[in-house]
Amino acid sequence: MAIKNFRQTVQTLPPNPGAEILRYGWLKPDTISLGQGEGCAPTPDFINLASHQAMMDGKTHYGPVLGQPALREEIIDYYKRIFDVDMGTNRVFITASGTTAMHLALSSILDKGDEVVAITPIWKNLLGAVQLTQAHTIQVPLDYNDQEWSLDLDKLFDSVTPKTKAILVVTPSNPTGWFMSKADMARVMEFARERNIWVVSDEVYNRTLYDAVKAPSFLEVAHEDDLLMTINSFSKSWAMTGWRLGWLTGPAFAEDVIRDVALYDNMCPPTFTQYGGIAALKDGEAFIAAQMAGWKKNRDTVYNRLNANPKIETYRSVSTFYSFFKVKGENDSLALAKRLIDEGSLSLAPGCAFGNSVQEWMRLCFAVSEDKLNEALDRLEKVIK
Ligand SMILES: Cc1ncc(COP(=O)(O)O)c(C=O)c1O
Repeated sequence: MAIKNFRQTVQTLPPNPGAEILRYGWLKPDTISLGQGEGCAPTPDFINLASHQAMMDGKTHYGPVLGQPALREEIIDYYKRIFDVDMGTNRVFITASGTTAMHLALSSILDKGDEVVAITPIWKNLLGAVQLTQAHTIQVPLDYNDQEWSLDLDKLFDSVTPKTKAILVVTPSNPTGWFMSKADMARVMEFARERNIWVVSDEVYNRTLYDAVKAPSFLEVAHEDDLLMTINSFSKSWAMTGWRLGWLTGPAFAEDVIRDVALYDNMCPPTFTQYGGIAALKDGEAFIAAQMAGWKKNRDTVYNRLNANPKIETYRSVSTFYSFFKVKGENDSLALAKRLIDEGSLSLAPGCAFGNSVQEWMRLCFAVSEDKLNEALDRLEKVIK
């Protein structure tokens, strides 16, 4: 049916191939879905209990627009403990998900016609969020050589024009697992500072490194009043995807602006879930470490099997719970994703969902049981043999 009577911007939003494939896979009941970005572990009990207790204590009303002061303070402690970063609570804004944090950040800074320079491949929702503001994205692809992704900073800086309002980066990156070094972050921040443009850094995966406790954060290199927003979420590292709880950091002078925009957006984040968030940050380190140990095993299983297959090009991811690979001779990832569902009952995310430069790649989320993972790999190998 023709789409009409909506904003032109909405009517012309391109389809999201990742979401399309997920829906296609759901139509086939025996499909194994490794196409969505979430672990199979349930939220740990200590987090559930804290939230339940908050409900029983009557924390079921509206709360402050920017979140419960106790959670804002807990996040400050968390940054001090894990990143050695000192911040005031007026720089942390609680949101109903990382996705909401992303919309708040982008809709607060972008006007129609602005340009955003985005490092790709990138989680498609960020591109959609930019599009909703009627700004344009300039994609700057990472380079892939010898099983490694890298960023050419000159290429990034050369893409900035007088119309550029923000540099957008996901670090660590969904889908590649690449992350920006602290030294590069310092250079990007300095470059942005000189030009008075924003850096928006999605750091949702910054606790998913396999060889370190955390990935660098832009907060470690930024000045207090830099034009920097970082996006974060409880979804991945604390197994809380269904909770819809995240946070945004910004300079202190952004607090009033974000409060105004958030008020019109959602009034306030859900109240009792935030108490689960406090417990997650306070007592969640053992859970994160155990989850990473399991994911590391799975990462190696996937890498070893895919890398042994002469038809597949891949690498060992340094972070996140994604394997990213391409199949020789398969240049259309959407077509391959459909074929995997049709012929193998396996749903994976097509690379075309992550930007122009990775049309022939596929993303597999390996945060599942070993049995499910091995069954999925069997199915993949059967279809592409
Ligand atoms: C890079 C990135 N940012 C944000 C999100 C969304 O986080 P949330 O579940 O908090 O909305 C995702 C989810 O896949 C993601 O990959």
